Amino acid sequence: MDELFVICRTVEIDDAQAHGFVLMKAEESGEATPWPIIVTRKGNNFYGFENSCPHEGLRLDKDPGAFMDEEGNFLECGRHHAQFDIDTGECFIGPCQGAHLTPIKLVIDDGDVCVTGVMLADE
Ligand code: FES
Repeated sequence: MDELFVICRTVEIDDAQAHGFVLMKAEESGEATPWPIIVTRKGNNFYGFENSCPHEGLRLDKDPGAFMDEEGNFLECGRHHAQFDIDTGECFIGPCQGAHLTPIKLVIDDGDVCVTGVMLADE
């Protein structure tokens, strides 16, 4: 089984909300590179995406932590306003309509939200 890396507690993310994290990914070269991700919650399900807009590869949050529209219905890129479903990561309107945010494998383990399937660098 792949190693689990704890990101946060499930209770730290409210329903229909998103939180951003910057993890450090261990590259094959041995270098550690920043890896910004977004974790969203819909009911009791959690979804993870790389924080990188498929349109121009920029972070969605032009202002730190601002990933969502004001009503909390969808993720939104702060630059050119592409809008993404919080569970599928599909862009349903905007310059990259039909494209998807890159998903991240999450596992819920004893109340923790964990990322798996990647190697993170030791901090
Ligand atoms: S960079 Fe996100 S919509 Fe253009």
